[in-house]
Amino acid sequence: MHIPNLNDARSRKRKDYNRIDYSVNKNIINKFSGKKYCIKTYGCQMNEHDSENISALLESIGFSRVDDYLDADLVLLNTCSIRENAHNKAFGMLGRLKHLKGKKKDLIVGLCGCMAQEESVVLEILNNYKFVNFVFGTHNLYELPEILDRAISTSKQQIEVYSREGDLVEGLPVVRDNAYKAYVNIIYGCDKFCTYCIVPYTRGRERSRKKEDIIDEVKQLVKDGYKEVTLLGQNVNAYGKDLYDDYNLGDLLEDIAKLIIPRIRFMTSHPWDFTDRMIEVIAKYPNIMPSVHLPVQSGSSRVLKLMGRRYTRESYLELFHKIKDTIPGVSISTDIIVGFPGESEEDFCDTMSLVEECKYDNAFTFIFSPRVGTPASKLKDDVELSVKEDRLQRLNNVVNKYFLENNKKLVGKTLKVMVEGISDKKNMYYGYSETNKLINFTSDKELVCGDIVLVKIEDAKTWSLDGKCI
Ligand code: 5AD
Ligand code: SF4
Repeated sequence: MHIPNLNDARSRKRKDYNRIDYSVNKNIINKFSGKKYCIKTYGCQMNEHDSENISALLESIGFSRVDDYLDADLVLLNTCSIRENAHNKAFGMLGRLKHLKGKKKDLIVGLCGCMAQEESVVLEILNNYKFVNFVFGTHNLYELPEILDRAISTSKQQIEVYSREGDLVEGLPVVRDNAYKAYVNIIYGCDKFCTYCIVPYTRGRERSRKKEDIIDEVKQLVKDGYKEVTLLGQNVNAYGKDLYDDYNLGDLLEDIAKLIIPRIRFMTSHPWDFTDRMIEVIAKYPNIMPSVHLPVQSGSSRVLKLMGRRYTRESYLELFHKIKDTIPGVSISTDIIVGFPGESEEDFCDTMSLVEECKYDNAFTFIFSPRVGTPASKLKDDVELSVKEDRLQRLNNVVNKYFLENNKKLVGKTLKVMVEGISDKKNMYYGYSETNKLINFTSDKELVCGDIVLVKIEDAKTWSLDGKCI
């Protein structure tokens, strides 16, 4: 049994890690043929992509996938710790599974992902959720087949979570959810330690994948007919810093752009590491999508300092305008937290005025949620919930106003859209523009998913646009 520990997770002592190739344990291949699994994924794209690897690992040992957990022999929760509501959702699901297990004694239940890295969660499971068969963490996903096999053969709860990142494992199998859009990890972990954020503890220190491994993966995706790759990392802008003296995200983007894949996206970018070289490369290559997610978190330099964000309102705005002025037609989206401990009405008004200046194309807005073990969770939280809710509402009103305003400017324009499917509700095709806008559209001819078509925009909504394929 391995239980995670916060102090170890916090440590950033340099330990060289090895890059090792995944190999299948031949003794377990197809051992569970005929069994069905259901995986519930919470949280970000990194988790979604991890679930694609987890699915492939389970399928390699014989499981087949079902969407309804009531039909499954194994239910696995791939969890998220970023805010309390993600946490509560997973525990809510565990409650339902406990009930189900009362009726279905052979049901296997597993938990993994960021919550599994939290000491308090693991202790809770050990004490109060004894029906959970196994828990593994974000650093040893590749061990799932062995851990699951042990849980079943011994009928004993298996808790295998390491506080510190181990080797960087290449060559994990993957079953991708989409046939033309793929996620590609480029860097794991985060060393920024923003004071509110639990990610540096649950995902460990920054570890870049070797450029050759990433480029080979993208080359294979091109061969397999993929049309879009999204390069993933908690902070992609730190790519390469731990591995190379003079190779960074700008260089990687350029090397991938030359592979002739129609669409390249990347996320998430911390403003601190956004270099002029990156901006130049994005502007230069038409297959790097002009769409940047640039979380600001707050418009108040005082709050940004408390958050440990390493930039001020002024330096963020300088970067924002440089990106806007250099990359033609770029869309910029953001994340914003309201109600950080000590946030005054004046601080909040600074956020509102920054939003008025930036007129974001999209924004994800959150109320501060204290996370166990983070420095901000120890700050005196003196903003009342009703005040936080009121600020969130006021903020949402203004961000929504600009989504609609920006969308309205696109009416009458013709955009390149990648066809993703037909929406059930509207019976129209849908897809995303280069700037990542959701477009619903009609077409006189039948379209193929993954194709990039021209759509004339006819109407603007707050979160989408309507148009017609020409
Ligand atoms: N409370 C509220 N929002 C948070 N985020 C990260 N940690 C917290 C927290 N403790 C938000 C940030 C980040 C996004 C992924 O989630 O805005 O950019
Ligand atoms: Fe969290 Fe900050 Fe790292 Fe983003 S950059 S994952 S907000 S610590």
